Amino acid sequence: MLRNKCFRLLLLLLPAFSWAQQTTEYPNDYLSPEFHAGRRTAFREMMPNNSVGVFFASQVRVRNNDVDYQYAQSKNFYYFTGLEEPNALLLLFKQPVTILGATGTEFIFVQNRDPQRELWTGKILGAEGVKNKYKIANVFTNDKFTANTFDFNTVDSVLTAFRGEDIFSKYKRSPDPLSRMAGIVDSLIILHNKPIAARTTNVILTSLRGIKQPEEIALLEKAAKMSCEGHNDVIRAIKPGMTEYQAQAIMEYHFKKNGSEYPGYPSINGSSENACVLHYITNLRLMKDGDLLLSDCAAEYHGYTADVTRTIPVNGKFTPEQKIIYELVLEAQDSGIAACKPGNPYNGVDAAARRVINRGLIKLGIAANEQEARQYFPHGTSHHLGLDVHDMGATGPRPLQEGMFLTVEPGIYIPPGSKCDKKWWSIGVRIEDDILITKDGNRNLSASSPRTVAEIEKMAKQKSIFDK
Ligand code: GLY
Ligand code: MN
Repeated sequence: MLRNKCFRLLLLLLPAFSWAQQTTEYPNDYLSPEFHAGRRTAFREMMPNNSVGVFFASQVRVRNNDVDYQYAQSKNFYYFTGLEEPNALLLLFKQPVTILGATGTEFIFVQNRDPQRELWTGKILGAEGVKNKYKIANVFTNDKFTANTFDFNTVDSVLTAFRGEDIFSKYKRSPDPLSRMAGIVDSLIILHNKPIAARTTNVILTSLRGIKQPEEIALLEKAAKMSCEGHNDVIRAIKPGMTEYQAQAIMEYHFKKNGSEYPGYPSINGSSENACVLHYITNLRLMKDGDLLLSDCAAEYHGYTADVTRTIPVNGKFTPEQKIIYELVLEAQDSGIAACKPGNPYNGVDAAARRVINRGLIKLGIAANEQEARQYFPHGTSHHLGLDVHDMGATGPRPLQEGMFLTVEPGIYIPPGSKCDKKWWSIGVRIEDDILITKDGNRNLSASSPRTVAEIEKMAKQKSIFDK
């Protein structure tokens, strides 16, 4: 009896324990000002002589009427500053220049404080606040940025992340301070006939953002961990009669519970034939006995996102056909992960996974040849992962390096009507994990969610926190 009471007490305490993670009033595990300063220095070291790097904050986007979309900072701007406010411009110079009486290589123009706006949407840092919080030396308010702010003739080229004919045109349409500053930069580029080195910018950013620093890895580990927690609870909770959006709700509950600001990309929850739509985000179907659910969902944490896919049987047990396809994808994924080693080519991961799937689909009589097999595995096996879910990083035959972080996500999708035996129809399987390239090989940051048939079926028998 006492044991029973203790057990009940323990059960009562367990949820409380799982909530108690944050001990400070607000999260305090953001990237440090030193991290951002280090990234700016690394960028400057790779800049050509007499160039200026121009990075704008993202614009606020209207959702409808006077409601905006939740603000999402430009990832390059965030990488270099940490600032999550709009209407800001960062200028990085290779050589020191003097701007508004201050000499240096880094200048940031930020939005002014505004009591009326702050009443509605909260504190704006202003120049002083940005200086104190992010330790950037030369901070000015954006109204100080005019065509005369610096002598444009001192630079030979402009490094910016945009490509295209009129790189700033997307800003020019709106009347906000950001658009005003973008318009000025654009006019100066045209007036002084300076080349825009978009390709160079991209090469530098790819090499920097493609190798994750320890502080970034710490955030990615957290994002991956909470993503796995969500996947595991969906494995436990799922049953026939549940909808795709209810599975999504269970998943995203765990992200939010752990402090994730939002999912890193729209959650994909496709059951039965919907699993064969690669980015199915409608998530409305009622799931039935015998279906598979492909759930490709992950949390973003302080700007960094995981990207995890699990494919699970709705009733807790794979059918023989589902198991065959699932285990083929799993074997392909294992081969892909085994190819994740420093020095191996990036595209060797896809080659390793695809080899397994091609061979398997031909052996099963689902595809007649490799070309036909491609229809059932129509996407690449990997992408870099970090600030963006499809992040910047070296691809193609270039070698993997320690600190790279990439997905390994082979899949097989057999929609109804496919040119194969009907018994395979409506099977869609993708398995996706987040692999950090280490000095000697790799580490799977999403390993805390099971991948094998036996482990998934075992977990499916456990109780979810949503089971009464
Ligand atoms: N998780 C979505 C994708 O990788 O495209
Ligand atoms: Mn992915």
